[in-house]
Amino acid sequence: MNSPCYNWDRSSWLSSKEYFQELSNQLIEFLDITEDKKILDVGCGRGHLLETLALNLNLINQPVGVEPVKHDDFIPQNIKIFHSPVNSFLNENNSQFDLVILKQVLHLLTLEERKNFYHDIKNHINEDAYIVFIHMNDQTEIPLFPLMENKLNQSLKTHQLLLDELTDNFHLIKFENFNFNVKISLEEYLEMIRNRYMTVLLDLKEKEIEEGIDFIKNNYPNQLVFQDTLTIKVFN
Ligand SMILES: C[S@@+](CC[C@H](N)C(=O)[O-])C[C@H]1O[C@@H](n2cnc3c(N)ncnc32)[C@H](O)[C@@H]1O
Repeated sequence: MNSPCYNWDRSSWLSSKEYFQELSNQLIEFLDITEDKKILDVGCGRGHLLETLALNLNLINQPVGVEPVKHDDFIPQNIKIFHSPVNSFLNENNSQFDLVILKQVLHLLTLEERKNFYHDIKNHINEDAYIVFIHMNDQTEIPLFPLMENKLNQSLKTHQLLLDELTDNFHLIKFENFNFNVKISLEEYLEMIRNRYMTVLLDLKEKEIEEGIDFIKNNYPNQLVFQDTLTIKVFN
């Protein structure tokens, strides 16, 4: 496996055109994003969100992604990706942004990295800039097995810590949820679990993954239908 998050946005609803189209539509409206905005996506993965925003908005300035992992299986169009951790990117560039997106990435930074980020990003944002923190909603409907649920609950608790840190550094302006209706076959979803698509699956033993797969097979139908809900919190 190339990186802990290699399979995150590789091939599932999390990488689908529909998912990013709906998310992009909602963000454009909620954040009032116009063609002149300079956008930074921290931990942009394969760049799907930025690519969709660039296409939908006809952005004047190419949006920028920062992503330590170089994904050779997908080359996004109309966006610029810097392959480095966000802290080095902020130290080595003097670009200014109107919108900084943190989608499901902040929990992967160490406390030291986050402290540096909160400090350094202030030198890279315009006065009215938005910092947008997007995280999985606590009331998730995603199919889980007991150990996965346990790990996910622990991880969701850290959201409050991250929120406290963000609130210490910026002002919370508004928030709302993004709901995506997922339809996926049980087989496809089990393959995602085998590929450890979520961070909480990464350090499970092979036997724990196989037991989890058996649990999901025995407790869910062949066609899975559920809502994947994100919370979008906007800071300034
Ligand atoms: C769970 S994925 C989310 C990807 C994308 N934001 C999305 O929501 O589809 C987390 C991403 O953050 C990246 N990442 C991890 N540490 C990082 C760091 N220090 N700076 C920037 N990105 C980082 C990972 O490589 C990964 O692509």
